[in-house]
Amino acid sequence: MLFRNGLIENATEGVDIRVLDGKFAAIAPNLEPLPGEEIIDCTGKLILPPFIESHIHLDTCLTAGQPSWNMSGTLFEGIERWEERKQFLTKEDVRSRVKKVLHMQVANGIQHVRTHVDINDPKFTALEAILELREEVKSFINIQIVAFPQYGILSYPKGRELLEEALKMGADAVGAIPHFEFTREYSVESLNICFELAQKYGKLIDVHCDEIDDEASRGLETLAARAYETGMRDMVTASHTTAMHSYNNAYVNRLMRLLKMSGINFVANPCVNVHLGGRVDNYPKRRAMTRVKELVAEGINVSFGNDDIFDPWNPMGNAGMRDAVFMGLYVGHMLGYEEIMKSYKFVTYNAARTLHLGDAYGIKEGNSASFVIMDAKNYYEVLKDNATVLASYKDGKLIARTEPAKTQVFVPGE
Ligand code: FE2
Repeated sequence: MLFRNGLIENATEGVDIRVLDGKFAAIAPNLEPLPGEEIIDCTGKLILPPFIESHIHLDTCLTAGQPSWNMSGTLFEGIERWEERKQFLTKEDVRSRVKKVLHMQVANGIQHVRTHVDINDPKFTALEAILELREEVKSFINIQIVAFPQYGILSYPKGRELLEEALKMGADAVGAIPHFEFTREYSVESLNICFELAQKYGKLIDVHCDEIDDEASRGLETLAARAYETGMRDMVTASHTTAMHSYNNAYVNRLMRLLKMSGINFVANPCVNVHLGGRVDNYPKRRAMTRVKELVAEGINVSFGNDDIFDPWNPMGNAGMRDAVFMGLYVGHMLGYEEIMKSYKFVTYNAARTLHLGDAYGIKEGNSASFVIMDAKNYYEVLKDNATVLASYKDGKLIARTEPAKTQVFVPGE
């Protein structure tokens, strides 16, 4: 196949892409078509590597209002509503909801997903279902599973044993939730356990870290210190870190040195952070997103996720990555022209680093031919016009296609 004249990653000049045997065989201007080669015109269309969802809870998706709605809009009422919904959990229920979300993601050009799965469940209902699906769907989407102790490692009966069992069952990464543990001591110890298990089983780490507007929530410094000391560095990810929004600046100045030394990744979830955050404030109300702009300025890797799609913590969501970037730029004061243009990296290359996808990810000769074609000439237009993902190719195979909507306007005097 020859993809003609596409604009790769905001380029202003079109180039041709030849795909052979599922790989990018050649990328150059004006390639000569081979005899009988299928030609796809991409003139004026942006071509990007596939989108990546670096933080979602697939097991809770599509459960909003079942059996009751989160009326206060708080994180903690969300946990209570989920506790009610969990009573009805079956493998079939999880499988059918997760499949629906995966299809929504594929339609939106996503090909890699890191999902947290609640393992504070002695039956491992959700984990078993998603482990099975990880195998079944791998031809069109790559799923990475974080064993997520929703109610804590030390503050939930047999929390440590459940976490270890989930890793033995095949989870890819170890989770923790230090701000939800009963005490400061449990918080620190839960992170020690997290590192001990990650090293024992050779897993990545992704922690729900300081997802609270409490400026005294300091799980991040422990996480970063352990990442540095153990040498696990960029195998470690701090998700949310919303308390960092509320830290005093003198503390952040000191903390930033450790964060850079540690090499850890960050994931912000702009829509859910701004929705759940600031809930105990009168006015002014905090935005509650971590300090994305400052982290990026220090060269620290940050990606954006959705966290939740139509569940007790987020009543909205279409599973695409555009809304996360759009909200992240607004909330983070990052709507400068250059910031907008390069913001696709939050949901492509930066997320690929977090997921440890390596050099196999990206549009270059020799790599698997996985990419999306957008109905826009650059990423600025994608965000501004909410552009359609026209096509998504994985390993050279078309896995999703969307026709752009056509609108006609009938007004007098035209
Ligand atoms: Fe989360």
